[in-house]
Amino acid sequence: MHQDPSSLPQGTGCGKLILFGEHAVVWGAPALVTSLELGAHALLRTLPHEDRSSLTLLDASTRAELATLYADAEHGSPLERALATILHILPIDAPVHLDVTLHVPPGAGLGSSAAMAVAMARAIASAYPAAAPHVEQAVAASEAIFHASASGIDQAAAMGSGLIRFEKGPPSSLQPLHLPTPLELVICLAAPGASTARMVQHVLAQRQRHSALFEHLRGAVDAIVHDAIEALQRDDRAQLGELMNLNHGLLYGMGLSTPEIERAISIARDQGALGAKLTGAGGGGCIYALGQDHAHTEAIVTTLQASGFHAFIAHITPST
Ligand code: PMV
Repeated sequence: MHQDPSSLPQGTGCGKLILFGEHAVVWGAPALVTSLELGAHALLRTLPHEDRSSLTLLDASTRAELATLYADAEHGSPLERALATILHILPIDAPVHLDVTLHVPPGAGLGSSAAMAVAMARAIASAYPAAAPHVEQAVAASEAIFHASASGIDQAAAMGSGLIRFEKGPPSSLQPLHLPTPLELVICLAAPGASTARMVQHVLAQRQRHSALFEHLRGAVDAIVHDAIEALQRDDRAQLGELMNLNHGLLYGMGLSTPEIERAISIARDQGALGAKLTGAGGGGCIYALGQDHAHTEAIVTTLQASGFHAFIAHITPST
């Protein structure tokens, strides 16, 4: 017998866009990140007659089923281990099935893994209120599976922080930022994403070889984030764009860009974007670009789409 889905326990998690400071945030620098309206949604059914919990992953745009899998703490894929970990931390009294719908492309630097973990943990907490105080712990444990040395930035945004200045800590610091006007950004999926854990290790290994130089890079990211907050608060788009290009230059120098990322960035800049940079771990995944106004932002999206990229507009609103 099928239950009406709207009556089932459910939860949502947000995607995220790192505006400035990815990677350096892992070594203690501040970063700017915003939650995205789109993320992941989970519906929970209890399975009193089954002996294992399971998950079906659906793509929101195509409704295609991407995978069906079972909780498996030891031998499973990262998502199977993440499900097992969340269910280990959140007390439930019978196996469950979660229908998880993804509204952001998976593994592309837009925080899909944290969004899924938050959506699943919140769906479970809505069925089992005793689980609610442990949601953050469950999400952190799930993120540790996907991201070695995770800074926690994805988790903060996935829980719906809005636009924040984030520092890893400990303790982590989340400072909400206020914008004079909502901001529109172009997000473009340049290529399939690489493993975040691998990219983070790649940068940490360079940092070990060039520790004094990386202190300067950290200082540069500190200054970029500081100036970007001022530019955002003055609505100084030209300054913001320049800072995006500077931050991209640093990430490029760390070996995090790819020919596809450079192609998408060149197309956006040739269209007159005020700035464009990779976002997230790099090695693939997404870029974002800043247009001069709404019409220009739409024109950049159209040109990227005509060049074969998946591109769309994200609306960044002030934190409440
Ligand atoms: O996995 P992504 O692409 O969402 O990147 C996460 C951001 C990093 O700074 C690279 C890692 C982290 O945990 O902060």
